[in-house]
Amino acid sequence: MTAATVPVIAVDGPSGAGKGTISRILAKTLGFHYLDSGALYRSLAVAATRHQVAIDNVAALAVLAAHMDVGFAMQGDAEPRVMLEGEDVTEQVRAEATGVEASRIAALAEVRAALLRRQRAFARPPGLVADGRDMGTVVFPNARFKVFLTASSEERARRRHKQLIEKGVTVTLRGLIAAVNERDERDRTRAVAPLRPADGALILDSSGRTIDEVVAAVLTAAKQQLAL
Ligand code: DC
Repeated sequence: MTAATVPVIAVDGPSGAGKGTISRILAKTLGFHYLDSGALYRSLAVAATRHQVAIDNVAALAVLAAHMDVGFAMQGDAEPRVMLEGEDVTEQVRAEATGVEASRIAALAEVRAALLRRQRAFARPPGLVADGRDMGTVVFPNARFKVFLTASSEERARRRHKQLIEKGVTVTLRGLIAAVNERDERDRTRAVAPLRPADGALILDSSGRTIDEVVAAVLTAAKQQLAL
């Protein structure tokens, strides 16, 4: 199996649609590798802060993107731990503020170009489940199976609200809905690799559906496409 023939499942969609959870269960079920591309953008935001690289210093950000020492440690189907320069930065990477920074950095063409090769390197046998915004449109245009997972912004904010409350973080639902909408708008309207369903993607709305229901729907369609 060459890099070009490794089966890739591309899972794209807005933040909070459940891409991460669904992708990790898919990867575990199929025995595939997993790429959390958002975590790469988030790690870059953390690395930029750590090395005092300003967001408008595009050239320096691109160099950092290409060379930052970042690794992901899988832990079953839970979110992978993120190691930056040998240090566990998972909590910082997952913080709301980091998501906002990542979304800003992700609008820069030079940064996206610098991260392309790193992302493609995740495609190794026996296969890859890649989760993000442009997996099916840009990074893995030849992916064997593409899904675009959506949910209403209220539902996505509600899920995030529940997660944060469980973590002991105090936030208002109204504020979260506004933040979700703002981030989506930036991801959708940027000039480079905007968030949109890839041609031929299965578009699935996860609002009001359980994780198991969504996984079952995606898995059935994926197995058909990949002839598994
Ligand atoms: O999926 P996430 O919330 O961890 O992603 C953080 C930000 O990174 C998101 O707002 C947009 C950006 N991103 C991107 O532009 N392209 C990707 N493939 C993944 C994430």
